[in-house]
Amino acid sequence: MQEELLRSDQQNSKSCFPIKQERQMQQQTEQEDQTKDLFKMIDQGMVYYKNGQYTFAKVVLFRSSSTLLSQIKQNKISEQVKPMALEKLQDGVRLAEYCNKQITQKQQQIAQKDPYCQQIIETSMIRKIDISFEEIIGLEHIKNQLEETIILPNLRPDIYTGIRAPPKGILFYGPPGNGKTLLAKAVANQIKCCFFNISASTLVQKHIGEGEKLMKALFDVAFQLQPSVIFIDEIDSILSKRSQNEHEASRRLKTEFLISFDGIQSSDQDRVFLIAATNRPQDIDDAVLRRFTVKILIDQPEYKARVEMVKSLMSKVKNNLTDQQLQQIAEKLKGYSASDIKAVVKEACMTPLRADRSIIFSIHSQDIKAVSKDDFDLAIEKVKPTLSQQQYEEYVKNFK
Ligand SMILES: Nc1ncnc2c1ncn2[C@@H]1O[C@H](COP(=O)(O)OP(=O)(O)OP(=O)(O)O)[C@@H](O)[C@H]1O
Ligand SMILES: [Mg+2]
Repeated sequence: MQEELLRSDQQNSKSCFPIKQERQMQQQTEQEDQTKDLFKMIDQGMVYYKNGQYTFAKVVLFRSSSTLLSQIKQNKISEQVKPMALEKLQDGVRLAEYCNKQITQKQQQIAQKDPYCQQIIETSMIRKIDISFEEIIGLEHIKNQLEETIILPNLRPDIYTGIRAPPKGILFYGPPGNGKTLLAKAVANQIKCCFFNISASTLVQKHIGEGEKLMKALFDVAFQLQPSVIFIDEIDSILSKRSQNEHEASRRLKTEFLISFDGIQSSDQDRVFLIAATNRPQDIDDAVLRRFTVKILIDQPEYKARVEMVKSLMSKVKNNLTDQQLQQIAEKLKGYSASDIKAVVKEACMTPLRADRSIIFSIHSQDIKAVSKDDFDLAIEKVKPTLSQQQYEEYVKNFK
């Protein structure tokens, strides 16, 4: 019966809506092309696997198999192609798992050879990152730029070579609390490659000479396990401007960094990326700064992003805000950083709970008063932006 209905519906749509049918056919062709591309990606992954490039293979196979799986689940693949798709999916997943094992083995071998490499693998290699691009509000053009400069080249390293090779170093700079660290982590999550998160506390060591050895080990391990991303947060605290009374250890650390960074810049075949973040770019050593060919300013959220941010943070909280009120709030939040906005929203959401603490234990969660525009006005009065307008202007002036 259902089938009949479906058939007659299709027939109806055929006779009455030729344009609709044409559009459907076009969509189907596009879908088939996409599936073919995924098959090609899986084949490419197999080539990497056969060449012993396990991390490349894993990245490509993981990405293509998971997209293929979601296409199958959503019934986007025609019945004729489905058996082939299932077979490819099985191969892709099996090989990706095998690659994972090989990579773990390789890590163990590297760690056994050198104690500094072992320390890097144990302390700085991040295995699971949950941050996705969707969680980062606004910054659309930056996400696009990152997709082109770093994400796609990792998924199709065979295409992005020579003049198309991606840059090796990207620096995120900008006022505090606007998503630099968040973006770097989301990038690493997207490419599913080895991700090393290094901080001053790892590199600044008690014994002279250890910091530079760790720096060298970091680049060595990243090179051996490529494609990989090294993320140096608050880079200004590790690689600050050279001064006369600078400690010997810090000078040697910088020199080692420059040598290692030049090492990864020298070949466009290798896939070791460096992402660094700072809110004080003016403090970074000039030679270090020069080596970052791409510098991206992560600025305070603009009006549209502020509206979206408040909306998204309030989406799971009972409130009676109208669209117009949301816009008024976003207007008032000019000059606030993303994390300041989060603090304002948090404060506004706390107000209804503060009205009468004695009922907190007895009240039903649905009966809590809805968050209102007044709560926001109070919160904005209370939570001030990290940087005043004047501080912000001075701050931005420093970069130019
Ligand atoms: N674009 C954004 N979308 C959603 N949340 C954001 C965004 N930017 C920042 N946040 C929120 O603010 C917090 C701080 O962001 P993050 O640590 O990335 O800032 P940062 O730019 O690295 O700051 P700092 O210069 O102080 O290191 C995040 O944990 C997140 O909750
Ligand atoms: Mg940060």
